[in-house]
Amino acid sequence: MHLFKYHGPELFAEDIAVKELAEKYGTPLYVYSYNTVLRHFQVYTRAFKDYPHIICFALKANSNIAILRLFAKNGGGADIVSGGELYKALKAGISPKKIVYAGVGKTVEEIKFALRSKILMFNVESDDELREINRIAGIMRLKAPVALRINPDIDPETHPYIATGLKRHKFGIPIEDALEHYRVAARLKNIKVLGIHKHIGSQITKISPFVDSLKSILLLLDKLTMEGLNIQNLDIGGGLGIPYKDEEPPVPEDLAKNIVPLLKGRRLTLILEPGRSIVGNAGILVTRMLYQKKGKEKEFVIVDAGMNDLIRPSFYGAYHHLLPVVRKKRDTILCDVVGPICESSDFLAIERELKRLRKGEYLAVMGAGAYAFSMSSNYNSRPKAAEVMVRGREHFLIRSRETYGDLIRGEVIPGFLK
Ligand code: LLP
Repeated sequence: MHLFKYHGPELFAEDIAVKELAEKYGTPLYVYSYNTVLRHFQVYTRAFKDYPHIICFALKANSNIAILRLFAKNGGGADIVSGGELYKALKAGISPKKIVYAGVGKTVEEIKFALRSKILMFNVESDDELREINRIAGIMRLKAPVALRINPDIDPETHPYIATGLKRHKFGIPIEDALEHYRVAARLKNIKVLGIHKHIGSQITKISPFVDSLKSILLLLDKLTMEGLNIQNLDIGGGLGIPYKDEEPPVPEDLAKNIVPLLKGRRLTLILEPGRSIVGNAGILVTRMLYQKKGKEKEFVIVDAGMNDLIRPSFYGAYHHLLPVVRKKRDTILCDVVGPICESSDFLAIERELKRLRKGEYLAVMGAGAYAFSMSSNYNSRPKAAEVMVRGREHFLIRSRETYGDLIRGEVIPGFLK
């Protein structure tokens, strides 16, 4: 479900024409639908309402503070992977008691910051990290709440770059060694073991990897309980896919229906870490056509958004629908839609059939709410795009377009060059 729909020839974001937004704020422009994000969040809470749970939104998908505030106001928590994400989550008003912290490379400063902030738990990815957290907690005279991230060796059947739960991946602790690691954790003085975590990958379009990985985790959990460990939090990660092209991924209700029965009789708090399935199709990237170019072999439509704005097509070969912001009766062309960056991998679409556009007309890149702005960069010294949130007919600038001045913020010419 999303609220980007045509009314006659015009694409609307909720109740406002996207063209109006593009003209007001300029392009490239990220537009998010408040009511789509809210609805997706509520679909999760409703689906899991019969089991104690926390929805910890994965900040890496979209960490704009306005989006995060929406979750904070609706009782959402956060799944973070850096000190920067912790900072943003707290600034947005997300309760530290609902923050879980994963990632294989937490630094001393980041661990201290998280301990000071009294987050719900660290999702620990290695023995070495566990001992480091124990050491730092000792210095701070605190007990660090931890879950071990378990790698269940399950294939999520997704793009290899975004699979995380197989033996060959850097993430988590191999499930067959987990018991031993838990025993070590239980003996460490400044560690309080209270959870178990897994996250097997992203853009998963089947239910079976979720169920299979949970079943192995629950077997482990039973062993831990027999050893006297009191595991209270079961964190099953994120990963539910969205339809970018013609996928038909399960929805949160399907996940709940398959997962909650497995938890019957267990007194746990279930933690979910959805990112993409909440914000993915709640955002679009609006771009303007600059030029048309006929190559010897191909026709190119050159637009003002590049791989620095949206890297998913270049990086993962990801497919995003491209829709004209105003539909016109035109002939269809086969073209590559490319950006202004000086790289051949700078494209939004390859060999795509599109209605011919004229200079200055706008295209909407759909499904650009997740891993889009958050992965954007200043490559080719391009200021980052503006972000706007729409609610009904209202629209709010939630991040200003960067200026040229922003491009040199923090850069310094050493004295000898002055
Ligand atoms: N939890 C952990 C520990 C994660 O590593 C991730 C995503 C999530 C939750 C959220 O997963 P989601 O519900 O969004 O699938 N940049 C890639 C996706 C990378 C995902 C990284 N981890 C893309 O554009 O497809």
